[in-house]
Amino acid sequence: MTNSSQVHSVMRALRLATRAVRGGIQNGWQRNSMATVAPPVTQNAAGSLGPTAMLFLNMGGPSTTGEVHDFLSRLFADGDLIPLGRLQAYIGPLIASRRTPKIQKQYSDIGGGSPIRKWSEYQCAEMCKILDNTSPETAPHKPYVAFRYANPLTEDTYAKMMDDGFGRGNGGRAVAFTQYPQYSCSTTGSSLNELWKWRNRLEGKRGTGEEQPEGAIKWSVIDRWPAHAGLVEAFAQNIEAKLAEYPEHERKDVVLLFSAHSLPMSVVNRGDPYPAEVAATVYAVMNRLKFSNPYRLCWQSQVGPSAWLGAQTSDSVKEYVARGQTNLVLVPIAFTSDHIETLYELDMEVMHEDAGGHPGVKRAESLNGSPVFIQALADIARDHLRSGESCSRQMGLRCQGCKSERCLEQKKFFAGQSNLLPAIK
Ligand code: FES
Repeated sequence: MTNSSQVHSVMRALRLATRAVRGGIQNGWQRNSMATVAPPVTQNAAGSLGPTAMLFLNMGGPSTTGEVHDFLSRLFADGDLIPLGRLQAYIGPLIASRRTPKIQKQYSDIGGGSPIRKWSEYQCAEMCKILDNTSPETAPHKPYVAFRYANPLTEDTYAKMMDDGFGRGNGGRAVAFTQYPQYSCSTTGSSLNELWKWRNRLEGKRGTGEEQPEGAIKWSVIDRWPAHAGLVEAFAQNIEAKLAEYPEHERKDVVLLFSAHSLPMSVVNRGDPYPAEVAATVYAVMNRLKFSNPYRLCWQSQVGPSAWLGAQTSDSVKEYVARGQTNLVLVPIAFTSDHIETLYELDMEVMHEDAGGHPGVKRAESLNGSPVFIQALADIARDHLRSGESCSRQMGLRCQGCKSERCLEQKKFFAGQSNLLPAIK
């Protein structure tokens, strides 16, 4: 046997032993004599013992240029994100193939890949350390990341959670924590649809509440947090740090240009909550800054010829610079770490091409490793774990124009994980 297969066998034996121990504990076996073993995974949404799986959901990004094609293929195949109609399965791969060389070049220009996985894993691990202290009744908290379009994919992370002893007859509690602070059906909604799909495939028959398979993972969802005080503080501190780089006599006239990923107008007109929630974040941050500066919200990363929500960030910068407003701070307001839309689109395209490299056009740091931000994540998670709610009341209300059975069933499933049910409309 090779060294690696020996290691593999040992790891597998350890995993099986761990599962057997947990199963035995759940059945009452040696309940009092195994004090050093992880506590039993017996949960309910209203107050449960650990371990608790904390799963960060996000779109993800390719960590290497070799992953770009698969990333784009998944992205353009997702009708929740980019609705291409009945021909999505044919048009999506074509667009992905056509765009791959250009996008590979962009990732190459920012260092060879997206840092979103590195930051997500760091933020989640750090949050869990804080939670172990602030929410000891649900400890230990185990960090997981599931991306919608890049590794680690939802299905792989779900399988890992099961290998770690959650579900598959062992029960256990998990929290799906969206890393999109503002809810959109095309982002958080899509990630939850994917999580629900893999939950059904990996844990058995569909169902809600008491219909769910014996020993399946008990899920709850943190579905939005656009104006959380900790999030607002983290954004505000990064803006203040950037404003401090301007001479004092110019500082109050610097325009703050908040930039969020745009949405197709078909999604906006369906009733998607995202534009209102992004605006809520912007207003809360400006309120914290005591409206010290003039500001605007604009939208970036439009693709294709259809109508998207504007004004576009690139046009906004061009217009203001052309008018002589050359002191601008770009503030990425809808993502929690750096990614291609900040490092390439804002830093290279907007600041250097659209603004002609004018030194007065700057960008506020992304949240990345901000301790204020990570503390906010821990506070949000602690409050959620204490609340006993399976998701927010707001998640129960579908968009006015929603015709998706998948949305309906997914929402019923997650709401049905608690007895404090939001009504699904
Ligand atoms: Fe928004 Fe279905 S599209 S709830």
